[in-house]
Amino acid sequence: MMGKLSNLSSLILFILITFTFSNLTEAKKKVGIYELKKGDISINVTNYGATILSFVLPDNQGKLADVVLGFENFADYLSDDVYFGAIAGRVANRIGGAEFHLDGKTYKLFPNDGHNTLHGGHRGFSDVIWTVSDYAKDGPSPKIVLTYNSFDGEQGFPGELNVSVTYTLVGSNKLSVVMKAEAPRKPTPVNLAQHTYWNLGGHDSGVILSNTVQLFASNITPVDSNLIPTGEIAAVKDTAYDFLEPHTVGSRINELKSGYDINYVVDGPLGGIKKVAVVHDTKSGRMLELWSDKPGLQFYSGNMLKGQKGKGGAVYGPHTGLCLETQGFPDSVNHPNFPSQIVTPEKPYEHFMLYRFTTK
Ligand SMILES: *[C@@H]1O[C@H](CO)[C@@H](O)[C@H](O)[C@H]1NC(C)=O
Ligand SMILES: *[C@@H]1O[C@H](CO)[C@@H](O)[C@H](O)[C@H]1NC(C)=O
Repeated sequence: MMGKLSNLSSLILFILITFTFSNLTEAKKKVGIYELKKGDISINVTNYGATILSFVLPDNQGKLADVVLGFENFADYLSDDVYFGAIAGRVANRIGGAEFHLDGKTYKLFPNDGHNTLHGGHRGFSDVIWTVSDYAKDGPSPKIVLTYNSFDGEQGFPGELNVSVTYTLVGSNKLSVVMKAEAPRKPTPVNLAQHTYWNLGGHDSGVILSNTVQLFASNITPVDSNLIPTGEIAAVKDTAYDFLEPHTVGSRINELKSGYDINYVVDGPLGGIKKVAVVHDTKSGRMLELWSDKPGLQFYSGNMLKGQKGKGGAVYGPHTGLCLETQGFPDSVNHPNFPSQIVTPEKPYEHFMLYRFTTK
């Protein structure tokens, strides 16, 4: 009996290894690491998932550290279920019931989060190989342009979609991220999000609970127990969600079930470029400021990290990184009162982000 079982498990292991290995060799064919360098900053990006792998920045003493969570081995990105550094899409965040209606049709998506669809489904844009369309490692504007052509029906979404993401180091210690998408034939929902986990103390420096965070948002979109928005817009005033004035992440986190994982409604008019967030690690002095033109910001305090083995032997437990995902509101396709995410042949998608890094 034991013999049979262990034979069976070694067979399963063999299949798993073979499967992973063939996936890996397939991926390795076209996947590369691209470095961008300017002044004190250096970033590594891969075209697998348009992912930011590392982000090296000086602290207030000039000491360099890599301030984003990531894996040591490339193979771990293939089985990653926490979306380290990737671009999530075609529709980032959750779609309730893994379906939506558009122009009188029902579209069934791949449910990969219970009954819901998360970050584009089983194999979203974070798990495909993008094409490197342009690349300059250094010079005045180091940049990489990554493109992906999504086919009609991919993960259940209607119509082809031609997507690009451009990472550029601009000015001194600034990173711009420009995401664009065109739906040449059919309307489709689009919501792209950059899913980097920041730990400004260094990716291996422990929890981010002492980081000070300020979010320029007076409201959130509350969610049900499956993290699907109820459709309400609720004020943050007098709740643990209020970051209008700077607070440490940890100061009120115990009032929440497992931490922050909620969409903020960014203050100000729809569409314009607005300051969204400031994060300050008082120990290293590193500070991040973020601007964007999207109406929402998912603030996530890394609640579901569970000991992932990361770069240089680091182990990432809960709250060892935080995400600031500018985007449209979650499940917008099922909430007519939320800003529309429908992209049409006449109306392409554009999403602008600017990060500035300083120390104080
Ligand atoms: C970035 O990539 C380059 C080239 O592959 C490598 O030499 C360097 O160590 C990487 N940097 C980090 C911080 O991982
Ligand atoms: C857009 O994507 C489709 C589907 O993948 C592809 O056939 C088409 O060539 C792409 N168009 C451009 C301009 O890249």
